Amino acid sequence: MMSRKAPFLSTTLMKAVVVSKFGGTEVLEVKRNVPIPQVQNDEVLVRVAAAGVNPVDTYIRSGNYGNLPILPYIPGNDMCGTVVQCGNSVENFREGDRVCSFRTVGGAYAEYTTVKEQHLLKLVETYDFVKGAAVGTPFLTAYRALFHDTSIKPGQKILVHGASGGVGVPAVQMAAAHGLEVYGTAGTEEGMEMVKKLGAKYVFNHRKEGYASEIKLAANNEGIDVIVEMLSNVNLARDLDLVAKNGTVLVVGCRDMIEINPRLLMTKESRIQGVMVNAATDKELHESVSFIEAGLRNGVLDPVLGPKYSLSDVQQAHEDIIHSYGSKGKMVLIL
Ligand SMILES: NC(=O)c1ccc[n+]([C@@H]2O[C@H](COP(=O)([O-])OP(=O)(O)OC[C@H]3O[C@@H](n4cnc5c(N)ncnc54)[C@H](OP(=O)(O)O)[C@@H]3O)[C@@H](O)[C@H]2O)c1
Repeated sequence: MMSRKAPFLSTTLMKAVVVSKFGGTEVLEVKRNVPIPQVQNDEVLVRVAAAGVNPVDTYIRSGNYGNLPILPYIPGNDMCGTVVQCGNSVENFREGDRVCSFRTVGGAYAEYTTVKEQHLLKLVETYDFVKGAAVGTPFLTAYRALFHDTSIKPGQKILVHGASGGVGVPAVQMAAAHGLEVYGTAGTEEGMEMVKKLGAKYVFNHRKEGYASEIKLAANNEGIDVIVEMLSNVNLARDLDLVAKNGTVLVVGCRDMIEINPRLLMTKESRIQGVMVNAATDKELHESVSFIEAGLRNGVLDPVLGPKYSLSDVQQAHEDIIHSYGSKGKMVLIL
């Protein structure tokens, strides 16, 4: 059953980025005559102020992803804004609430979108919408990597391999808050400085020759208990060398094939585990959202904003999130 129509809107049309065929960045078109989505019973309609850009948005846009949307579609999962209408069965949110999300029904790169109630977080009062748009997928992913189906213990050594980007930032913050000894990497001095400030004890430059030997030395040649890997196609073989006996490599990011020597897994009885944020059950999502909301409120977690782009620069944003380096936090589109 559809809920009541939104009486507050003077128009039924909105501005949004629309993809009508899969391909390069040129398929991202800003259109002004897109119908505002109708809210369903268990959804809210949000007036979007800012949207987070994630690497997965580019994989989907190019058609290189397992689960593709039906064309045409509006890209994006992460957004932040104000609730303007609630479906009839929505219980915990009301019109005027400031919210952010990691999964939308209508797509995030748009003036309005619909979101299921269980995919909403309440925005921290002191945050502006742009900062709120930096939460979403990266925080959910970091939580899933660290705390779902692993046995990470305080005092263990963790390497966040790619700590300066969207997922790396919350992974470092969560690991430090959990009492782990955090090792992080970034590709620039500025990125390294930021990772250190986030709570890493040791920071390395993943573009510097021989940095893996420096990591080994810092870990007293004991190995790293848990490695959170953002670029497995480049680093997995190195990770299997760095990981401790009985340690775990968590594959979060991977963009190509890589050859590894499985013998390394045998000698250390170590393991490689995949991480997929979208595989979380509703119960796990509730757990993640509860943890993240609490962490943001008490300041243990704090999103770091990276580059900001206007909606009209969406093509450049997609180009940059894949091809530029020197990450310092999360990329956001301003609506
Ligand atoms: N499995 C899942 O559910 C899931 C969910 C979200 C994201 N992901 C994937 O995880 C990866 C990271 O996502 P993100 O949002 O953090 O992307 P991002 O914001 O673009 O950050 C990319 C990170 O990778 C680092 N990096 C670059 N070269 C590296 C290297 N040789 N070794 C180690 N790290 C390197 C970057 O550091 P510098 O720029 O400082 O060099 C930066 O810290 C992406 O591939 C994304 O698709 C997976």
